[in-house]
Amino acid sequence: MTRTLVMEGVSKRFDTGTVALTDVDLHLAAGDFVSVVGPSGCGKSTLLRLASGLDHVTGGTIEVNAHSTSYVFQEPALLEWRSAIRNVELTGELRGVPTSDRRARAQEALDLVGLTGFEQQFPRQLSGGMRMRVSIARALVTEPDLALFDEPFGALDEITRLRMQTELQRIFQLKQFAGLFITHSVSEAVYLSNRVIVMSGRPGRVVADIKIPWDYPRPPELRYEPEFGAITGEVSAALGEHS
Ligand SMILES: Nc1ncnc2c1ncn2[C@@H]1O[C@H](COP(=O)(O)OP(=O)(O)OP(=O)(O)O)[C@@H](O)[C@H]1O
Ligand SMILES: [Mg+2]
Repeated sequence: MTRTLVMEGVSKRFDTGTVALTDVDLHLAAGDFVSVVGPSGCGKSTLLRLASGLDHVTGGTIEVNAHSTSYVFQEPALLEWRSAIRNVELTGELRGVPTSDRRARAQEALDLVGLTGFEQQFPRQLSGGMRMRVSIARALVTEPDLALFDEPFGALDEITRLRMQTELQRIFQLKQFAGLFITHSVSEAVYLSNRVIVMSGRPGRVVADIKIPWDYPRPPELRYEPEFGAITGEVSAALGEHS
């Protein structure tokens, strides 16, 4: 199986002297959805930036075998003067994809995230959850092999957040990219992932790599099962011991 992302012994030391990551090993293949949890400032966003190529490692190696990588930021980061569909079209525009083609693909991506009928609305006319959906559509319109998510649901209310988790899981099942997902929510991590990686406080290193046993799709009620509670407990314990 192609290993989409291979990090071996990765360290990151900023020019300021801050060591954000030490000796991180992380392997991701197509069909893997891996969440990363860890205390604030432990280097999670740094890890994502390294995986995306936005920043470079100062130790170890990183290998990305992906034609296309997408990045979903914590804030939807939409252009206010562009309608939903034109926000999603942006990547295609920058890549020189012909208009009719990129419009069709943007429409498909909006349909995928449940925004059919909202194509012409501007970001200010959409709710927080809908803006996040546009942002996810924009990331997935390129059919990425590697999708990076930096706390995408952090700003959403609980109900919207649970809904978005179900949506993302459905999309993941359909598209089978390799997903790397950062969150502060242990239950979100366990519900979405086939592996959860727990990082220590700064400098961040991997202190636990916990396999999540259930097949997809996972019903929302899974969250109330005792076994679900046992695994979230295991993740929380690993977090508590190393923060
Ligand atoms: N460009 C930079 N220059 C210098 N230091 C940086 C830079 N970016 C991040 N850091 C430092 O690296 C450490 C890790 O930051 P990072 O943003 O990766 O943490 P995080 O785990 O994403 O935190 P949070 O959960 O709060 O988002 C922090 O101490 C931060 O101050
Ligand atoms: Mg961060």
